[in-house]
Amino acid sequence: MADSGVVVVTGAGTGIGRASCETLADGGFAVAALGRRLDRLEGYKTEGTIVGYACDVRDPAAVEHCIGEITESMGDVRGLVNAAGIIIEQPITEVTPADIRSQFATNFDAVVTMIVQCLPGLRHTHGSIVNFSTMLTRRPLPNATIYTATKGAIEAFGRGAAAELAPDRIRVNTIVPSLVRSQIYIDAGMAPEAYDAMLLDLERLFPLGRVGEPIDVAGLVRFLISDESSWITGIEIPVDGGRGVG
Ligand SMILES: NC(=O)c1ccc[n+]([C@@H]2O[C@H](COP(=O)([O-])OP(=O)(O)OC[C@H]3O[C@@H](n4cnc5c(N)ncnc54)[C@H](OP(=O)(O)O)[C@@H]3O)[C@@H](O)[C@H]2O)c1
Repeated sequence: MADSGVVVVTGAGTGIGRASCETLADGGFAVAALGRRLDRLEGYKTEGTIVGYACDVRDPAAVEHCIGEITESMGDVRGLVNAAGIIIEQPITEVTPADIRSQFATNFDAVVTMIVQCLPGLRHTHGSIVNFSTMLTRRPLPNATIYTATKGAIEAFGRGAAAELAPDRIRVNTIVPSLVRSQIYIDAGMAPEAYDAMLLDLERLFPLGRVGEPIDVAGLVRFLISDESSWITGIEIPVDGGRGVG
């Protein structure tokens, strides 16, 4: 049987968020796709429903307005996928307080804002929340300490939120991807050629012989949002091409 209900996906224009929107819509969910750039929120490859909403998830008033609009026009939120994320690559000695604040504002604070605004719908629907950490929390690399810390916070928050929201039958799980081809480093200022060279160089770290593609993660997102996972909450699931055993 096809899934149904409204799923809000942040970071929906590119990378893992975009592939998640398509996989969720293919599965029967109606998807509200959030990102700052509306032009990224189009051209999805699916017959299913995906509606784009321009929304900066760092702005609590904008999030409140956007979730209100989604609820009114599409219905109660039954799934929330917090895929918006940023990275600033830098050695610890170059980190400024503004760099710390900026990465936490998008990768952590905004996740809390999204959850709070979606809670009324999630309570009605006994919904499911999916957040994203990174394999760097287990297999660190240099120059990503603050980014990695934001994701460590997300893992801890996810476990606490799962415990707190379980009485409402709302589930919270965290996907822990390793290196997946996306826009995140390019949006951070890396040249596309340098990014491709980095992916090629880092292939050697993965026992399965390649870096990840967004679609490698999207199926797990759909599973965790759907009722197929209705007895799973409060866990972290790596999707890492075997990096954890490499
Ligand atoms: N790719 C990887 O290797 C990897 C590994 C581990 C974990 N992750 C995590 O997976 C998640 C998805 O990342 P991705 O790799 O797919 O990155 P991506 O392609 O860069 O996607 C992130 C999206 O977030 C949106 N975004 C950024 N700031 C936003 C804001 N303030 N408000 C609304 N949208 C915002 C961006 O679009 P706009 O700029 O248009 O808003 C962008 O489309 C992130 O949480 C990331 O940390 C990624």
